[in-house]
Amino acid sequence: MALVAAPAFAENGHAAWLRYAPLAPDAAARAGAEVPRALYRLGDEVPLQRAEDELRKGVQGMLGRPLEPVNALPASGAVVVGTLASIRAAAPALAPAGELPADAFWLRTVHQGNASFTVIAGGDVRGTLYGAFAWLRKVAQGELLDPLDDREVPYAPVRWVNQWDNLNGTIERGYGGASLFWANGKVRDDLTRAGEYGRLLASVGINAVSINNVNANPLVLSPEFVPQIAKVADVMRPWGVRVAIAIDFGSPQSVGKLATYDPLDPGVAAWWKARTDALYAAIPDFAGFVLKADSEGRVGPSTYHRTHADAANVVARALKPHGGILFYRGFVYDHHMDWRNLKNDRARAAYDNFHPLDGQFDDNVIIQIKHGPIDFQVREPASPLFAGLEKTNEAIELQITQEYFGQARHAVFIAPMWKEVLDFDMRAHDQPSPVKAIVAGRVFHRPLGGFVGVANVGDDDNWTNNHLSQANLYAFGRLAWNPDLSAADIASEWTRQTFGTDPPVGRTLGELLLTSWRTYENYTGPLGLQNLTDITGNHYSVAVEASEENGWGQWHRADANGVGMDRSVATGTGFVGQYPPAVAKMYESIDTTPDDLLLFMHHVPYTQRLKSGPTVIQYIYDSHYAGAEAVANYVAMWKGLRGLVDDERYQAVLKQLEYQAGQAIVWRDAVTRWFHKESGISDEQGRVGRYPGRIEAESAALQGYQLTTVQPWEAASGSGAIECRTTSCTATFTYSGTAGTHDIAVEYFDVNTGAAHYRVRIGGRVVAEWTADDHIPSRKLDGGSSSRYVIAGIALKPGDEIEIEGTPNGQETAALDYVEIR
Ligand code: GCU
Repeated sequence: MALVAAPAFAENGHAAWLRYAPLAPDAAARAGAEVPRALYRLGDEVPLQRAEDELRKGVQGMLGRPLEPVNALPASGAVVVGTLASIRAAAPALAPAGELPADAFWLRTVHQGNASFTVIAGGDVRGTLYGAFAWLRKVAQGELLDPLDDREVPYAPVRWVNQWDNLNGTIERGYGGASLFWANGKVRDDLTRAGEYGRLLASVGINAVSINNVNANPLVLSPEFVPQIAKVADVMRPWGVRVAIAIDFGSPQSVGKLATYDPLDPGVAAWWKARTDALYAAIPDFAGFVLKADSEGRVGPSTYHRTHADAANVVARALKPHGGILFYRGFVYDHHMDWRNLKNDRARAAYDNFHPLDGQFDDNVIIQIKHGPIDFQVREPASPLFAGLEKTNEAIELQITQEYFGQARHAVFIAPMWKEVLDFDMRAHDQPSPVKAIVAGRVFHRPLGGFVGVANVGDDDNWTNNHLSQANLYAFGRLAWNPDLSAADIASEWTRQTFGTDPPVGRTLGELLLTSWRTYENYTGPLGLQNLTDITGNHYSVAVEASEENGWGQWHRADANGVGMDRSVATGTGFVGQYPPAVAKMYESIDTTPDDLLLFMHHVPYTQRLKSGPTVIQYIYDSHYAGAEAVANYVAMWKGLRGLVDDERYQAVLKQLEYQAGQAIVWRDAVTRWFHKESGISDEQGRVGRYPGRIEAESAALQGYQLTTVQPWEAASGSGAIECRTTSCTATFTYSGTAGTHDIAVEYFDVNTGAAHYRVRIGGRVVAEWTADDHIPSRKLDGGSSSRYVIAGIALKPGDEIEIEGTPNGQETAALDYVEIR
């Protein structure tokens, strides 16, 4: 029998994976015997004090007994915490033999007679803190704690997150609340949560954070911001997290009032130096700058016909004497490209811009490269630029925040996708050269490099809005520390710490997390189509054609005959030729391109057969049905955990998954109907265009409601929807199916500019009512605002009337798409 210990605190997700919840009784008993009762810390540096605090809190929480701090090494045993050097000096018998670089740690048990010692040794104080968190991670997972002899060295020195926080407190592409750093144009008075964020970051080995939007407000470089940035650095420093800022390249002119921001102008160089010196005077451990130049409307060196290397180096030289780093973003492309020209290709941009400059960047410059050549789409190949820079430092930029992954309203665990890219072998010089090794500097022997995650957490109780989205932040940190970890191991670690070690919880969450990327891809844009979403708008709602016929270059080129971008060298844009020969050869031919990327690399007829068997069009249909079914199954799987996870998070996740299940149906129907219409090819299984049990709102008996069209058309079932432009309206649907107990799904629209009310009556009796007050990122009737309310277990017989009364509010018109009776 499993004993479920009641949590001693609110399970609102604030504790994330650092809950230190009581262990299951058998694990607690074993750990109780393995873990010493005293704690001896060598050294007073703040990160060491934090390590001690965590260890005491963790042991108290998980084992239910204290870890007593002592002032001298007790003969009876202790947890010993310090740098390797200090342990070696004070207690040589306990120190492991060997060396530890910065940030690394060693966990070790030593027995002397009856006494046992758990040694947490760091290469430096930060490494010691990482060691403490790593040991606590083992405790929380119920792992063996004695004997231990684990030496861990991070894979790369750069393990950063970027926050795209605006000074007004909003966060660009942030879905977890307001900025932890900024409000109303200045640093927040209360930085408690920022410090707590530092703790979360440290717990997974992240060592720096950039604290403002890459679309940077030039003001951050003004003198009055120096003390504000210093305040954030003060709350991060105890956790070994250094602070950086994103800068605007035009700042010498806009902030400095110089006549120019030409990177080759000596006055400009002097200005960068002066501003950088001022930052270092206040923040000696300041980490550096992130720079987005000549991209998406940001100014850059092109104003003066200078190169990206000129731009990067002038800033890097200001940082250099202080040991600072400049991250120069490789995300540079023309967003006014002529879509009519079939040779144009945004995917080429990063390589075309940066490869010719290889070798011209100073050694404290890192080119920060998005994992794929476009922009965090649901499926992209690894960027060819990774292999295109051999004499330049690189970092891979991964997006933790779920911009194109359902914006934290859909559960998508991105680690499996990151793993595919990190493990992808570029075959540079025909040698093994996985992306992870290139960015860590191991392939081309670069001194600097690593991993950057765009995190964008906010001040929501649970940091990321969706409880399951926390797993992405956790996974980024773990992969940046050790990209050889498997996604399955990371999912399991995260689950055990975050939701406990009960096997059914681990099984369910493991399956859900590990399949969720494929599921999301299936119901959004499979086969390398990329996200079929509102590219020029919210990046959330389904809109199959939104990427076409504009300059943004996210084209999939679907028409009546075929689909996909021809990026081959022989007949297409030549993008494929940017890869080293072995990879280029694979992508050049339709026969050797993996199915998952077929439409990214090639334009093919809908009847093209995939290697997996079906035609392209049939796969588009099948995958969308499979995706929607998978999310429905997630809801069922999650319901199986009732009582095994705390009720607060159980309910929140259930609500989120139910919403996602509804959205997956909207996506399924929209995309399949669009391709059905465009291709004229039927679904072999006869599903597309036939929706059993569905009654369109357009065909209901309407009182007050009016017909309306929805943009894009595919986002509404049938020919459109109905909306109420008066105080209250009614739509009456007549049931004609079999008598029995049924679920009624009502598809309605919940825009974010009002809170309409819906009331459903059957035979005069109210069976459901709700207010459409969610904050979905859509102001109009579209796929994003399309929402589903399910009324379960209703007795119906033929002829029954389902009457839906809608009461508009604000600009929300109580719109309805259909009801579906199952
Ligand atoms: C995406 C995102 C932008 C962001 C940009 C970037 O395009 O939508 O909000 O500014 O990436 O990475 O710079």
